[in-house]
Amino acid sequence: MQTILIIEDKKSMADMLTKAFQAEGFDVKTADNVKDGISSISSGLSAVVTDLKLPDGSGMDMLKAVKEGFPFIPVVMMTAYGSIETAVRAVKEGAYDFITKPFDPDHLLLIIKRAIAERNIARENLILKKEFQRFLAAPEMVGISKAWDEVMEKVKKVAPLKTTVLILGESGTGKELVARAIHHMSIRSKEPFVAINCAAIPKDLIENEMFGHEKGAFTGAGELKPGRFELADRGTIFLDEIGDMDTPLQSRLLRVLQENEFERVGGTKTIKLDVRVIAASNKNLEKEVSVGWFREDLFYRLNVFPIFIPPLRERREDIIPLARHFVSLFAKEMNKPELSISSEAESMLITREWKGNVRELKNVVERAVILCEGPALMPELFNFSENSFREKIPSDAPLHEIAGSAARSAEKAQIAEALKKTHGNKSRAAEILKVSYKTLLNKIKEYRIG
Ligand SMILES: Nc1ncnc2c1ncn2[C@@H]1O[C@H](COP(=O)(O)OP(=O)(O)OP(=O)(O)O)[C@@H](O)[C@H]1O
Ligand SMILES: [Mg+2]
Repeated sequence: MQTILIIEDKKSMADMLTKAFQAEGFDVKTADNVKDGISSISSGLSAVVTDLKLPDGSGMDMLKAVKEGFPFIPVVMMTAYGSIETAVRAVKEGAYDFITKPFDPDHLLLIIKRAIAERNIARENLILKKEFQRFLAAPEMVGISKAWDEVMEKVKKVAPLKTTVLILGESGTGKELVARAIHHMSIRSKEPFVAINCAAIPKDLIENEMFGHEKGAFTGAGELKPGRFELADRGTIFLDEIGDMDTPLQSRLLRVLQENEFERVGGTKTIKLDVRVIAASNKNLEKEVSVGWFREDLFYRLNVFPIFIPPLRERREDIIPLARHFVSLFAKEMNKPELSISSEAESMLITREWKGNVRELKNVVERAVILCEGPALMPELFNFSENSFREKIPSDAPLHEIAGSAARSAEKAQIAEALKKTHGNKSRAAEILKVSYKTLLNKIKEYRIG
């Protein structure tokens, strides 16, 4: 619920405003002097409405206290006729707005609602900006193995050039990460990095996605739409899962790569491009070429500077540094204290097969950090795959026992999923699961999740 703090010494006025706000669903706190007003300020407030003249001071003191502690909380001043100058000064010093007495409470409500909406947008903007900065920052790359060093050497050598790079490796080995790193280390780093996943976009849409279309190119093409190549101009385009591209599009792509120019779908105008191309595939492209699924000439055009990222099981020295990196990443993200990995858990991590490579390791660590309640991550936290939720049922078990056990398995899985979704926030998980907080705690204990 949204809470409003009203500081007003005239009781009849305070009561009237309280009623008006409550009728609109707000929770209202009141104070009739500056001292109590200041001690009622908290981060949970949605807005503050304060009278300018108060028995022990001025509304300006309220304003100052709010702005110092919680700059995002909007403050609206109520002023008597004749103190407009002070009100204007208040706005200069950070008040959201002022309203002159006498006023219609609906008018104040309107101001407050607008202030809250604007504050939410400002907050979101700030969060997005931070996210975006993180996105712009060079990705953190972890690894100590010789194989990883070799990858990094190649990355550093090729990054400053415009050379086309082909990144190969199993799923989850870090191909996209390497592509982003190359872009960040290049002189194009301030220009866009545009990724297109050739396997994820339906075949009949992909040409349009890559090259855009002219207005009226086909029914429904009401507006001109630039494609990803155009959006990547002066920057880098990342053609992910290139092995999944069908042959007609491969021909078109080859032409674009050879000539550095293209036409939009349904267009005749030739558009010149300055784009650095990085492609990636988890398939063995040479094999695809030999069976005729991938054009040989396109392969050679892309394979100018290949970088192969070995699977994690072939560079096991990287497992622990990566695991520790992800532990600290997720602990920070979930506001948990620093966590260590127990040595038993470490030996277990080192010996796993890691078919899903670094991505699998990252997911396993995320889950362990969510479930962890002590200072160290113990082996059991890493140990459950989706299947381990299934309880072992003896073959001669009666039906009613099977039902109970199936229900328990399903509950367990559901609880773990909810905890994952909420990054371990139990009260929010309880809301999702529609059980009380206490019930959830009991179940977590019963099922030993965490
Ligand atoms: N050396 C590394 N250091 C830090 N994080 C890494 C490293 N390698 C991979 N990761 C992380 O692992 C995850 C998977 O990496 P990425 O998406 O780059 O793999 P991919 O090879 O493109 O996988 P896919 O073939 O499934 O698309 C990402 O979250 C990435 O940040
Ligand atoms: Mg990828």
